[in-house]
Amino acid sequence: MPVKHLHRGHELASDLVISRNRVLLRKGSILTDTLIKKISALGYQGLYIHDDLSKGLQVNEVISSELKLTMRNELESFLNNTSFNKPNTLKAQMKRIDKLLTYTIDEILQSSKVMVNIIDLRTYDDYTYSHSLNVALLSVIVGISMGMGRPQLHQLATGALLHDTGKMFIDKTILNKPARLTPEEFEEIKTHSERGYHYLNDNLEIADDSKLMALQHHEQYGGKGYPQGLSHEDIHLFSRIVGVVDVFDALTADRPYRKAMLPSDALEYILGGYDTMFDPDVVSALVKKVAPYPVGTCVRLSTDDVGIVVQNHEHASLRPVIKLIVDNKPVETYIDLANDRCALNITIKEVVNY
Ligand SMILES: [Fe+2]
Repeated sequence: MPVKHLHRGHELASDLVISRNRVLLRKGSILTDTLIKKISALGYQGLYIHDDLSKGLQVNEVISSELKLTMRNELESFLNNTSFNKPNTLKAQMKRIDKLLTYTIDEILQSSKVMVNIIDLRTYDDYTYSHSLNVALLSVIVGISMGMGRPQLHQLATGALLHDTGKMFIDKTILNKPARLTPEEFEEIKTHSERGYHYLNDNLEIADDSKLMALQHHEQYGGKGYPQGLSHEDIHLFSRIVGVVDVFDALTADRPYRKAMLPSDALEYILGGYDTMFDPDVVSALVKKVAPYPVGTCVRLSTDDVGIVVQNHEHASLRPVIKLIVDNKPVETYIDLANDRCALNITIKEVVNY
């Protein structure tokens, strides 16, 4: 439910991370006016609540809220340490991050049958940390879908988590500028790839393939990226993965200069860059694993019926199972857009706020 539609008495249907001091609002909590104000101030776009519409819906988390929060906090202290350059602290931090990544990969492997709900993946407090964390989670999901084993997934996750380390060296007023960048400012931002790579190379003992992701994540498959203008297989596979996932996650988040795109629109954007900006194999893996219409989304069909998505099909992600809503109430009528023969000519027209 969008935050603006929340009201006192609503019951939370999934855990909510509300701040960095490890306070969680547990599933089952009843919302008060103060809590709603706080949730809204934290920048949440929406959250899961129990109501008539959601009865019987199961929301599957890719990783637990606790692990997500611990990772996020660890990442924050790691990235804030860059100015102090204390090698021992950095090494100890990296050790802890390493361990957390092992747990994370375990949890994702256990839930790898599930299609990802990008909205559910997100934590909201600070873009830098939540974005890096999401990029790591999505990269692992894509890596699994492309058949990688644990050692590769671990290197992929490490590089994905640290891919934007170089941004710590860029002036915050440029990074968070709510307007179009001047050519000079854009050139300054572009230096974050090389600065991040050198920082990781000089200070951490992590795999070369992971470090390369900091250097290459803005390269484009067709050769029009930066800093080196590499193309195709000259860009490391890990970097091609993080290149796609980085853009996808950024599009689905609210930014100072634009509102978040719907998952379905962001996936279309990614598909539009197939072969020019993005590696086709990576795009296919992402499209297979991320639901354009996640469970809980309300949609209007080409028949003008409205319904709520109750199940996604991995083989046909644009054709989920819909439970119809009639006179503002969900009814026990389901349309399986992928499997009901009589539904083959029905399409999803738009996402609606309900
Ligand atoms: Fe970047």
